[in-house]
Amino acid sequence: MEHYDAIILGAGAAGLMCAARAGQRGLRVAVLERAEKPGKKILISGGGRCNFTNLDAGPENYLSANPHFAKSALARYTPADFIALVESHGIAWHEKTLGQLFCHGSAKQIVAMLLAECPGSVDVICNADVTAVVKDGDHFAVSASGVSYAAPSLVIATGGPSIPKMGATGFAYELARQFGLKVVEPRPALVPLTLGGEDVLFRELSGVSASVRARSGKGSFDEAALFTHKGLSGPAILQVSSYWRSGEEVAVTFLPQAKPDWLVELKRDRPKATLRAALREHLPDRLADALAERLGVERELGNVSDAALREAGARLANWRFRPTGTEGFAKAEVTIGGISTDELSSRTMEAKRVPGLYAIGEAVDVTGWLGGYNFQWAWASGVACGESV
Ligand code: FDA
Repeated sequence: MEHYDAIILGAGAAGLMCAARAGQRGLRVAVLERAEKPGKKILISGGGRCNFTNLDAGPENYLSANPHFAKSALARYTPADFIALVESHGIAWHEKTLGQLFCHGSAKQIVAMLLAECPGSVDVICNADVTAVVKDGDHFAVSASGVSYAAPSLVIATGGPSIPKMGATGFAYELARQFGLKVVEPRPALVPLTLGGEDVLFRELSGVSASVRARSGKGSFDEAALFTHKGLSGPAILQVSSYWRSGEEVAVTFLPQAKPDWLVELKRDRPKATLRAALREHLPDRLADALAERLGVERELGNVSDAALREAGARLANWRFRPTGTEGFAKAEVTIGGISTDELSSRTMEAKRVPGLYAIGEAVDVTGWLGGYNFQWAWASGVACGESV
């Protein structure tokens, strides 16, 4: 039996950050990782450049059954703190768009930085697949790939089940349930949506993208949408997928900057123009043609009534899709839901009913928008836990 002060399950973003902080406090820490190397999701993130934080990250960019839960940890470890850490390791970075910060070089630099932050008292042990955990008095005993470990503190940092082909599982939820903690039903988020029925016709636009405003529930995002052979994707759609519930519609505004009466004004200025030509000035040709056909306005604008043009404009501003589903955990960048925040202290991430047990990162019911927000939650919750564990 190997004895430690703290055992962290999972050497992902949250687990490594937590290990570094706890190790820097002088604790002996074991990080148990089932994969052959640490930080695999970090390595593939941001197209290999890791969108490691977002300048604007605040509690309003996260979804959770309790929207207040993330406030404390996010306030105590901010994007500026992570940028300072990155810079102290000489890692060059840039803002790509919308506050999203990426490495100039490679995501490998972020993993190397996290490992370098772990002092000698931290053992990162790979090929250690945790299969059983028991609480024995005030100690947790963990079995991983035939070796037993024991510690008074145990941190669940095994992430969520998105991208199972990378080894992601719902292990965090099994463990939480084993200790009597509630789990908010997990579902795929930041995920492409599938289309069927009448909407299926839009699949012929596979590969076409356009700047739109997409809305679902309380989510509204001005970014690019992409038509795919299965349905809809692109940043705007991935963002609203986190707010979308099965059976609901997604509203898309095709020309978010256009004035409500723009087609009537255009008819006055250029009565010989067609809707198709007008749309082609702002949208990719294939999309413009498909929309004009579906709106059924084929004649010159001068020959179309103002009422019909207003109706066409209103439909373009509020095009309704009814997705048949999502592309599932296989394609989801994150998992929404997870270990209920009701069970955890927002200051320390410790389970209120199970002293010594902690949960951090994606395993917890806190899910960020697309754009570096999920890593910021992993860092912030990892630090909050690492300072208390
Ligand atoms: P994470 O999944 O990183 O780590 C969990 C670790 O636990 C894994 O290493 C896993 O192998 C291990 N584990 C699981 N079960 C175990 C067991 N039984 N025993 C031992 N170990 C076990 N976010 C962002 O902010 N910016 C970005 O650019 C991206 N890009 C991105 C791209 C892609 C393709 C995906 C899938 C996701 C992103 N994300 C992202 C999301 C981000 O990767 C994610 O939110 C964080 O990695 C979550 O960090 P965690 O440490 O909580 O889990």
